[in-house]
Amino acid sequence: MKIKKNLNNEVKKRRTFAIISHPDAGKTTITEQFLLAGNVIRTAGTVKGKKTGKFAQSDWMEIEKKRGISVTSTVLEFNYCGCKINLLDTPGHEDFSEDTYRTLSAVDSAVMVIDAAKGIEAQTKKLFKVTKERGIPLFTFINKLDREGKEPMDLVDEIENTLGIEGYPMNWPIGMGKNFRGIYNITKNRLELNLPQNKIEMVPLTKAKNDQRFKEAIYQEAFADVSLLKEAGNKFDSAKVAVGEQTPIFFGSALTNFGVKTFLDEFIQLAPSPSVHQDLAKQNIDPNDSEFSAFVFKIQANMNPHHRDRIAFIRICSGEFTKGIEVKNERSGKFLKLNSSTINQTGSNDQVEAAIAGDIIGLFDNGNYQIGDTIHTGKKELVYPPLPTFTPELFCRVRAKNVMKQKSYHKGVNQLVSEGSVQLFKEVSTGDYILGAVGQLQFEVFTFRMINEYNSEVELIPMGKRIARWLDGSKAEEYDSSSRNLLVQDIHNDYLFLFENNFALSWYQDKHPKIKLIKKL
Ligand code: G4P
Repeated sequence: MKIKKNLNNEVKKRRTFAIISHPDAGKTTITEQFLLAGNVIRTAGTVKGKKTGKFAQSDWMEIEKKRGISVTSTVLEFNYCGCKINLLDTPGHEDFSEDTYRTLSAVDSAVMVIDAAKGIEAQTKKLFKVTKERGIPLFTFINKLDREGKEPMDLVDEIENTLGIEGYPMNWPIGMGKNFRGIYNITKNRLELNLPQNKIEMVPLTKAKNDQRFKEAIYQEAFADVSLLKEAGNKFDSAKVAVGEQTPIFFGSALTNFGVKTFLDEFIQLAPSPSVHQDLAKQNIDPNDSEFSAFVFKIQANMNPHHRDRIAFIRICSGEFTKGIEVKNERSGKFLKLNSSTINQTGSNDQVEAAIAGDIIGLFDNGNYQIGDTIHTGKKELVYPPLPTFTPELFCRVRAKNVMKQKSYHKGVNQLVSEGSVQLFKEVSTGDYILGAVGQLQFEVFTFRMINEYNSEVELIPMGKRIARWLDGSKAEEYDSSSRNLLVQDIHNDYLFLFENNFALSWYQDKHPKIKLIKKL
């Protein structure tokens, strides 16, 4: 499809978002229900079958299948009620949170899925921090109502107190677990009842008042709660929702597909379409601008073992992509002709002919892109802000087991580092390579991929936890270096110390009060 006219109308239809949650809260299950609602799949239970071993759409890497975890972010697209939904999947495991953080820089809103029995869990809290920092509108789905969980009021309190965001319930559960009767849809003023065989009965509140069925205590309790919320709860404030200061809260059960459609219907109304992006020079780039612009938020090699491709995923911020357009990569100054690929729901690489602001596409990459690159068709300089990099906490030395295979070793290390899988450092005194990661699994994936994709067996010598601090200024030769404060350089040739522990850090700081040590995110 070619989109030439009405760019504005098309942009308005985009909803680009990601789901954040703690593992097992139900992210995959709700994603499946979304795909079902968008007619992408016919039956739920096909995206990921941890126990059933069914075809796993986002589990394309062997290691993912082995561990039953999702390592990579993928993009799912579907149409729903006139909207084009771009759902960016994020890895559930906390060792890959760096990838998730980068993905969150490419979305316009986020959905937080919470297990009603567990409330706010560690990983949700971490990811929430990122959405809050970026002011991303956040929608909350409290899941697993078909099981006994915490009291709904307590869950709302927990969201507000633990995360420091206002909650505004859009619907309210009627009972829970075995006694889960459905929800009171507060915005639509009706009851949505959970009937056998996945049927739903809608009862307008005006009718429910005179219906004997609803005299039962379980309904009366829900009515009382909603009255209390209306009287004493927060008022809905779309301006606060738009900047992530208030989160609309929905209750439901992803597994039984109850409340998911209600959620989606409201979500597409409330979630923002792509809006202005600001570049480093504080230029406001309108999504409807006729010049195409985008940034790379993810690079992934070898997604399909049959084609050893490297794909750079871009988020389009303005204008329209058409196959074959020429763009400038602002970092390298190179002009590039774009050919695209999407990794669609069935795992095949389909060519995208056209895509517009808000869309995510994959570009075939021969080493032209790095994470954070800006590409655009305009004449004026345009650079989108850099993506967050994290201070790694775990380190190990790395070398090729077979010294004869240096070429494939270096190729593999460089490619995996440019994908952001691990961070690479060079010891200043010896030139040795050191890898840094946020979590141990990153090293395991690195080792696995080096063998499988680059035929290079690597030896990792653990250095354990270190505290990384960057040096302000470049005259690093003047600084002391020892095993307790190892001087290394990152891939940008910036100097940093890897301190053995907090003691070593404070000792160094006391000794060199004038040296400024910088911590990244
Ligand atoms: P995740 O992607 O956030 O890690 O969670 P996922 O959807 O894989 O769900 C984790 C477990 O919770 C799964 O069970 C799933 O069936 C269950 N679950 C998700 N939503 C609901 C819900 O609304 N109600 C109930 N009762 N359970 C829910 P599992 O036994 O660990 O895996 P599986 O064998 O079902 O795949």
